[in-house]
Amino acid sequence: MKRIFSGIQPSGNLHLGNYLGAMKNWVALQHEYECIFCMVDMHAITVWQDPAELRATTRELAAGMIAAGIDPAKNVLFNQSQVAAHAELAWVFNCVARMGWLNRMTQFKEKAGKNRENVSVGLFAYPCLMAADILAYKATHVPVGEDQKQHLELTRDVAQKFNTDFGREVFPLPEPLIFGTATRVMSLRDGEKKMSKSDPSDYSRINMTDDADTIALKIRKAKTDPNPLPETTEGLVGRPEAANLLGIYAALLDKTLDQAIADVGGLPFADFKGKLADAAVAKLGPINAEMTRLRNDPAYVDGLLREGGAKAAALAKPVMDEVYEVVGFLRP
Ligand code: TYM
Repeated sequence: MKRIFSGIQPSGNLHLGNYLGAMKNWVALQHEYECIFCMVDMHAITVWQDPAELRATTRELAAGMIAAGIDPAKNVLFNQSQVAAHAELAWVFNCVARMGWLNRMTQFKEKAGKNRENVSVGLFAYPCLMAADILAYKATHVPVGEDQKQHLELTRDVAQKFNTDFGREVFPLPEPLIFGTATRVMSLRDGEKKMSKSDPSDYSRINMTDDADTIALKIRKAKTDPNPLPETTEGLVGRPEAANLLGIYAALLDKTLDQAIADVGGLPFADFKGKLADAAVAKLGPINAEMTRLRNDPAYVDGLLREGGAKAAALAKPVMDEVYEVVGFLRP
C-alpha cells in the first residue's frame, strides 16, 4: 500500500510553480492513495518570518490547497507544528545524518550563499526535518517538483543508515514522484532561474492570488526570444523561455508537450501568449474565487487543520514509539 506524504512551506505567495509542480499532482493522487499533506511552518522559520504573517500565510496556504481540489475530509491536511513527532524525529535524524551529507545540499548552498556563518542552524539541518516529516508516517512515495530530489535522496540515506545502525527495518526508503510537464517551472523573467517565492520581482511568477488582468499582464511581459514557437520538441533546445512557457501551457491544459506543440507550434509569441493567458485564467480563476471565499471563513479553515493535526498525530504515534524503543530511550 502506497502512503503519500508531501509538504509545502507557508512562506510568501503560493505560485504557479507550486501548483503545477506539486499541488496539481497531489489532487490527482488523492483519489488512489492515502495522502498526508502538510504545511511545513517549522521549515518556514529556518529563515525569518514575521509571526502574524506566518499565521496568516499558513491559513492562506490551507485555503489554496482546498481551493485547488485537495479534499480535507479524505486526506490528512494539517500544519506541521501541531504534531510534535516532526521535531522529535528530526532530532534523532540530526544524530543519524552526517555533516558531510548536509554540506552537499545544493539548496543550502544557494540559500546561504556567502553568508554561511550567519544563517540559522535550522537552515543547515533542514533536510533532517524533511526526512522526519516523511518517515514519521513511514510514507513510501513523495510527490514533489524536481528541486526537492536531492532532499529525497538524503531522506533515503537517513532511513537506510538508521535501519543499518540499529539492525532493524524500521523505515521504508521513500520514492520521489516527479511527473507532469512542469516539474520545474521557471521564472517568467529568466528561463534559467526557478520560479520562486523569494524572487524579488513579482513579474517573475504568477501567484495563485493574482487576478485575471495581472495574470495576462505578467504573461504579456514574460521574457521570450525573437523566433516563433518551434514545430517540434527538438526545436526547444537552447530556448529556455519558449520551453518554459510551452511547458506551463501543456500542464495547464493537461496535455503532453507534443500535443501542445501540435496545437501552438509555429505561432509567434504574441499570439501564443494570448492563448497561454486564457489557459491560465481559466484554470486559476475558479481556484482564486474559492480561496477568497475560504479566506473569509478562518474559523472553518482552522477547524479543518485541527482535525487534520489530530489525525496526523495518531498516525505518527506508533512510529515514534517504535523509534524510541529501537534507539534505547527509557520510557518508565
Ligand atoms: P516548497 O515550499 O519550496 O515547494 C513546494 C512544492 O512545490 C514545488 N515547487 C516547484 N515545482 C516546479 N517548479 C517550481 N518552480 C517549483 N517551486 C516549488 C516543490 O518541488 C515542492 O514540491 N522542502 C520542501 C517542503 C517540504 C517537503 C517535506 C516536501 C518539507 N518537508 C516533505 C515533501 C516532503 C519545500 O521547501 O518546498
